[in-house]
Amino acid sequence: MTTTDTAESTGADAAPAYPTVRAGCPLALPPLVGEMREERPVARVTLWDGSRPWVITRYADARQALRDPRLSADLHRPGFPFISPVQKLQQNQDLPVGFLRMDPPEHSRQRRMLTQEFIVKRMERMRSEVDAMVDRLLDDMIAAGSPADLVGGFALPLPSLVICKLLGVPYQDHEFFQEQSRLMLDQTAGLESVLAAREELRGYFDRLAVHKRRRPADDLLSRLVAEQETPGHLSHDEVVGMAAVLLVAGHETTANMIGIGVLNLLERPDQWAALCEDPALVPGAVEELLRYQTVIHTGLPRVATEDIEMGGVTIRAGEGILIQLAAANRDPRFYDDPDRLDVRRPVRQHLAFGFGVHQCLGLPLARLELQSALAGIVRRLPRLRVTKPLEQLDFRHRMNVYGVFELPVVW
Ligand code: HEM
Repeated sequence: MTTTDTAESTGADAAPAYPTVRAGCPLALPPLVGEMREERPVARVTLWDGSRPWVITRYADARQALRDPRLSADLHRPGFPFISPVQKLQQNQDLPVGFLRMDPPEHSRQRRMLTQEFIVKRMERMRSEVDAMVDRLLDDMIAAGSPADLVGGFALPLPSLVICKLLGVPYQDHEFFQEQSRLMLDQTAGLESVLAAREELRGYFDRLAVHKRRRPADDLLSRLVAEQETPGHLSHDEVVGMAAVLLVAGHETTANMIGIGVLNLLERPDQWAALCEDPALVPGAVEELLRYQTVIHTGLPRVATEDIEMGGVTIRAGEGILIQLAAANRDPRFYDDPDRLDVRRPVRQHLAFGFGVHQCLGLPLARLELQSALAGIVRRLPRLRVTKPLEQLDFRHRMNVYGVFELPVVW
């Protein structure tokens, strides 16, 4: 039966506050999300600003929604859901938003400019460089001695180094670059410092793009300037925006996946031991970790452009939607025993990188980084352990990307 969500059919209780903190095990799905998937697979929630988007929690619905052209990713459309005030700010700023929050045909046009940069073949050529970065970071951490913070000392700097290399950020600017990107992604820091960091970074990319026009090198930013800005396919601001999107999209996600991925494995000593004994399991383990601990945990935001029937309800044109990848990736209708982490599981088509036209462009790079990071850690630090119990770790409950702020380890 299809019901429309009217004031009569849905009281406040039927639209619980969202997102919720994982009151129980921080590595499990938030109980509310699990309940919704089983009982009300397409249901309204209430966000911080009082808006009431729909949350889609089952695998089949999520996949269908992600490929549905009637769902828009354009954050300027009325009804687009914003998980946090920082995100909403983007909507009000007169800045190019990047193609992550655009629809075709402009989305496709801009994305196409980058597809060659992220093809598997090109990424594979980076593998030895990424391996070397992993080794250097582990060398430094080991030299500084145990205990250490695996997040600050390894998981955060790795994607930053990789993106610097890809974009062609000069080595001497690494520290500035890392500090600004860290501040920009720190949603606890308050709007002003996030905005200030964002401006610093935009200013930085602005100057760097001008520099690349004068002195092109073999890097992504030089190619964007030469092939897109100079012939007039993109404005200078759009090139700057694109560089910023690449930084943001690839940094926090990868860093948190490394941190919380390692934590999950250390919490399951049999799984950790299996990887240490047989590093050939690493690529499969990475996919299983992406499925099991999907770090984009509050849902991909969309807004309906037409009325849509899904999961027995009608989503009206102009209503917001959150596609809950974490719940979908643990849907028992699609995965056997989904709440069990199993590095030997042949993971089928998880949704951790999204699906459809916006599926993660950096997917080959993210896989490479995660594989290289995990292989490096199990090889160099097989005795790794976390020094605090789970309940004393600080989890990123209220962040867009889930994970741990710090992971204190010894080896
Ligand atoms: C574990 C690491 C990563 C995860 C879990 C992840 C996840 C995702 C997801 C779920 C989306 C879809 C967003 C949506 O549909 O609204 C996405 C898009 C995107 N990701 Fe990633 N990502 C990761 C790493 C990276 C890296 C390393 C890069 C590049 C340096 C990158 C670049 C992008 C870009 C440019 C988009 C926008 C694609 C589009 O809109 O067409 N990501 N990512």
